[in-house]
Amino acid sequence: MTTILLLHGPNLNLLGLREPGVYGSTTMADINAWVVDLGQQHQVEVRPMQSNHEGGLIDILHEAREWAAGVVFNPGAYTHTSVALRDAISSINLPVVEVHLSNIHAREEFRHKSLLAPVCVGQISGFGWRSYLLGLQALLGYLADKK
Ligand code: DQA
Repeated sequence: MTTILLLHGPNLNLLGLREPGVYGSTTMADINAWVVDLGQQHQVEVRPMQSNHEGGLIDILHEAREWAAGVVFNPGAYTHTSVALRDAISSINLPVVEVHLSNIHAREEFRHKSLLAPVCVGQISGFGWRSYLLGLQALLGYLADKK
């Protein structure tokens, strides 16, 4: 069975409580359940994980080489700052789809730039919790085309 890593970065564990006007009232647990469910509809296992730490996210990505066919990743604020995460994505040889709840291009200028997008398959931004479902669909389509 194909297995996909669903990875959340810093502060996304607080979804539902955190700035609901920007990120909505959906919790990370809700999103995980919906993405797992969509995966099941496609005979795909989705394993959700989260870390608030750059190194923790890098460790998870490295370990995913052993078991994942690809990654749906919301890197949170590290999107805009982390050369180390970009290098991790470049190193693991797995397709990664970058997702954001908010439209990062419509927000503060410092959020417009993603250091990670150039080493990802693509980026989905601005559709709230549905960005994650779109991200999984995009990744599964990408993997199907690669077969
Ligand atoms: C975010 C956008 C980032 O700029 C921000 O730092 C986040 C969440 C999003 O999903 O919209 O933590 O990745």
